[in-house]
Amino acid sequence: MRVGVGYDCHRLSEGRRLVIGGVEIPNEKGLLGHSDGDVLIHAICDAILGAISEKDIGAHFPDNDMDYYGIESEKILSRCLEIMRNKGFRILNIDTVIVAQKPKIAPYREMIVKNLSRITGLKEEDVSVKAKTKEGLGFVGREEGIEAYAVVLVERTEP
Ligand code: CDP
Ligand code: ZN
Repeated sequence: MRVGVGYDCHRLSEGRRLVIGGVEIPNEKGLLGHSDGDVLIHAICDAILGAISEKDIGAHFPDNDMDYYGIESEKILSRCLEIMRNKGFRILNIDTVIVAQKPKIAPYREMIVKNLSRITGLKEEDVSVKAKTKEGLGFVGREEGIEAYAVVLVERTEP
């Protein structure tokens, strides 16, 4: 078995959709970035790639590559899972933390878990989504951005 950790943050900006874990959450600001800025899925992707020592999403999906501009993060996650399977691993569970001063993630937690379960093929009980504020501190506290952390466990399917 191998463990991987992932981190991401994106700036909040007017006129953008807020998409976290593939779920659109109503909010006056959304996450800026190439792709849909899905901070949670990006952290999960890096955790998967980390677990199998395959660099990071920036290396696999360069943000100067126009093919990836505006791509749904779900597709990036599916591609990372494919890289993992091709390397002879399967995913066992995911644990995550979203750090956002606003909005409240709790009402959307179940939808996010269901969506991540659908994409990864994991049971819902093997996908964990947690949320924290930053108690008003720093760039997250000032509502300038949102952070996400993820840990995944994978196991070898082939010797
Ligand atoms: O109480 P504590 O300081 O540990 O945590 P908090 O940052 O005040 O968050 C309290 C609870 O609110 C969390 O346990 C989450 O369930 C929820 N929360 C949320 O739904 N969305 C956020 N953006 C932040 C927190
Ligand atoms: Zn990102």
